[in-house]
Amino acid sequence: MIVVTGATGNVGRPLVELLAAAGEKVTAVSRRPADGLPAGVTHRQGDLADVGGLAGLFEGAEAVYLLVAGLGDELDPRAIVTAAVAAGVRRIVFQSSQLVGTRTGSVSHDVLRAFETAVRGSGLDWTVLRPGGFASNAFLWAEQVRSARTVAAPFGDVALPVVDPVDIAGVAAEVLRDPAAHAGRTYVLTGPVAVSPREQVRALAGVVGAPVAFVALSASEARSQLARFLPEEVVDGMLSVMGEPSAEEQRVSSDVERVLGRTPRPFAAWAERNAPAFT
Ligand SMILES: NC(=O)c1ccc[n+]([C@@H]2O[C@H](COP(=O)([O-])OP(=O)(O)OC[C@H]3O[C@@H](n4cnc5c(N)ncnc54)[C@H](OP(=O)(O)O)[C@@H]3O)[C@@H](O)[C@H]2O)c1
Repeated sequence: MIVVTGATGNVGRPLVELLAAAGEKVTAVSRRPADGLPAGVTHRQGDLADVGGLAGLFEGAEAVYLLVAGLGDELDPRAIVTAAVAAGVRRIVFQSSQLVGTRTGSVSHDVLRAFETAVRGSGLDWTVLRPGGFASNAFLWAEQVRSARTVAAPFGDVALPVVDPVDIAGVAAEVLRDPAAHAGRTYVLTGPVAVSPREQVRALAGVVGAPVAFVALSASEARSQLARFLPEEVVDGMLSVMGEPSAEEQRVSSDVERVLGRTPRPFAAWAERNAPAFT
């Protein structure tokens, strides 16, 4: 049986669907009740921050897809990985971030870095996935597009190869189902081409069938907006990646294609699939 944590989010939901469709026995974990899971999938309600409840979340699992949400700073990486080992788990796939590799001094990625260390030192067969920015971050614009056919964002012409969460899920499913081919590997997951915020907005205009204006925010305007709901050091880190990405962060990785045998999906495909959120 495979336990998927974060099972109702951008990556977890399509991952659960892919594994179930492939005939795997799947247990989906989230804090809130989950609706719309495929038939035959078991749901366990639990909080990864509740160390006492971890054994119950991993019980009976042969493999775990470990996805932690947000900053994860309420979580204890070693306790979580130790609980998986104690429950008899043999394989673990951890969803990290490309920035753990490219921004080695970034405080906001300390928790993901600690998870990577715990997973690699666990004695289990492990694989680490390091996705770049998600196409689904464009959900942040959905309300503006619906109500005002406008997107206000900084760094309109700075392109990054955003990855479709469904491709992360596809790689995760493949890695979970063919561990011999992927144990001990770290994969960087990106989309097929770097795409700027302005180009993403153009794609969204295409799916809503109406012009969507791009309003350029200055870095300081963007900082004040983001600082309303994120800690200062996280905001600075985000703006630095969005405004001054390194050559490595702008580069398309071949790892999605290596694992899936096809090119990653473009941002336009994500926009098409998620059109109802923008119309
Ligand atoms: N967005 C990006 O550009 C980006 C780039 C690289 C890496 N990442 C990494 O990707 C991860 C987020 O993936 P995502 O977008 O698929 O997540 P998401 O859509 O935010 O979903 C989070 C999932 O985790 C569950 N969850 C949250 N806190 C939990 C807890 N304490 N215990 C158990 N379940 C919990 C949520 O359900 P409940 O709320 O019901 O618990 C939900 O199922 C983060 O680790 C992030 O650092 C993101």
